[in-house]
Amino acid sequence: MTATRRLAGPAFRNPLGAYLDYRRDPLTLFYEQANAFGGSVRLRLVYEQLHLLVDPAHIRQVMVTNVDAYTKGISYRSLDHLLGPGLLTSDGPLWHRQRALIKPAFGRKHVTDEVPLMVACADRMLAKVATHADTGEVFDLVPVVMGFAADVVCRAVMGADVAGLMPRIEEDVRDGVDWVMRNMASPVPLPPSVPTPANRRFRKILARLHQVVDDVIAAHRTGEDAQGDLLSRLLAARDDDGHAMDEQQLRHEVLTFLLAGHETTGGALAWTIYELCRNSAVLRDVVDEVDGRLGGGAPDAASVGLLELTGRAIDESMRLHPPAWAFSRTSLAPDSFDSFDLGKGALIVISPFVNHRLPAFWSAPLRFDPDRFTPDAVRARPALHYFPFGWGPHLCVGQHLSLTEVRVGLSMLLSRFDIELVNGLRVREHPEISNTPGPVLVRVRNRRAGSGTVAAPAASVAGCPVVHTEVTR
Ligand code: HEM
Repeated sequence: MTATRRLAGPAFRNPLGAYLDYRRDPLTLFYEQANAFGGSVRLRLVYEQLHLLVDPAHIRQVMVTNVDAYTKGISYRSLDHLLGPGLLTSDGPLWHRQRALIKPAFGRKHVTDEVPLMVACADRMLAKVATHADTGEVFDLVPVVMGFAADVVCRAVMGADVAGLMPRIEEDVRDGVDWVMRNMASPVPLPPSVPTPANRRFRKILARLHQVVDDVIAAHRTGEDAQGDLLSRLLAARDDDGHAMDEQQLRHEVLTFLLAGHETTGGALAWTIYELCRNSAVLRDVVDEVDGRLGGGAPDAASVGLLELTGRAIDESMRLHPPAWAFSRTSLAPDSFDSFDLGKGALIVISPFVNHRLPAFWSAPLRFDPDRFTPDAVRARPALHYFPFGWGPHLCVGQHLSLTEVRVGLSMLLSRFDIELVNGLRVREHPEISNTPGPVLVRVRNRRAGSGTVAAPAASVAGCPVVHTEVTR
């Protein structure tokens, strides 16, 4: 079969096509073009054709019904340098084997067992926030919640008391991600073996991360470190032939979890606080629920599941601001869709951000409304309008872990503090590997019993409607 029918897309006079718009603001570019073309659309980026799939039938074909005809796309190739071939970046037989070994380690029961660990991490976060409450100063909430997410993922994965190493690990993962972003954006991505100054720094970062992870694995093998964490479960896992993961594979997977579970979950928590602060009626109801269910204490395995409205607010925040804003695939063979064909090697992008906001799929898409996630509303919704954790066989293994973690962190923050958003209408999306918010500047006060109100966000600025969601009182 030859690719004869092309997916429709805008014609560009300039030789770069949509490249500069893509570099400047991919969210707006994707959203506007999907709207203009009523769904899936082709965009030329210099000489490369990018196929943004939006129609649920197109996405299902790539992610489920013909999944073996596609491999993880270009964005994963740069990540390979940082993580190696772990579950997130691999495909084919290696992915099948790793998925079967790893999936059970993320089961609901294990996640529930980790709630006390999450509470301990949230207590450390509250202690940091309390210092700002004492002074009344304005501060950026994003690094604080990112620190919480890094704390949880390090301890949930590696168990060991890695407190002393945490700042170093966090910084190295962040710098490693920066290298990946630059490598991805480069017109000629050089492998780390080419001795440029940036590559030399990257190789040092990698060496340090490998050392930390290898030490923790070694300590687990000799039984020195806490058991019951994810790494212990991975060490015990056996495939159908009775084989365990080798040392290198374990390292790839541990690094994968540190990366995949950090900024995504921290971003989800930061965006939820941001949206709640902009929608004070919803916030009041969430605070009432938290007070009613937790009575001023910390959640436990049972009560965290009762935070129903809180959970819906998190779902709705991940609709408007999906941390995994887009992911890519490459076709391994030609494929045929209803109105177009793809040749071998076609670049495909699927963007939860676009599908989560498309007016064709959602009424008043920019309004924050947790009622979109009542059980009835979820049942009535067509597939692939909402998929913050992906879809099909590659569905995120960390979904329950991160949703539970965000509930724990959010409920404990709201239980203890009133939060006032200072730059309410100026926060912007940062669509890098994950979509994190720009500075979320807040002032916090220790709560008086029964209070849960927040001040309205500061003065409005005109902004791109794609980025700025509605504010309600
Ligand atoms: C709010 C938090 C998170 C979001 C929004 C998120 C989102 C996603 C998405 C969209 C995918 C599918 C990517 C694709 O199909 O190309 C994915 C896959 C994956 N996620 Fe997450 N993730 C989150 C948290 C986590 C956590 C906490 C972990 C582990 C500690 C994790 C580990 C993974 C792995 C290993 C995969 C690859 C799965 C596979 O290909 O079989 N994620 N995630």
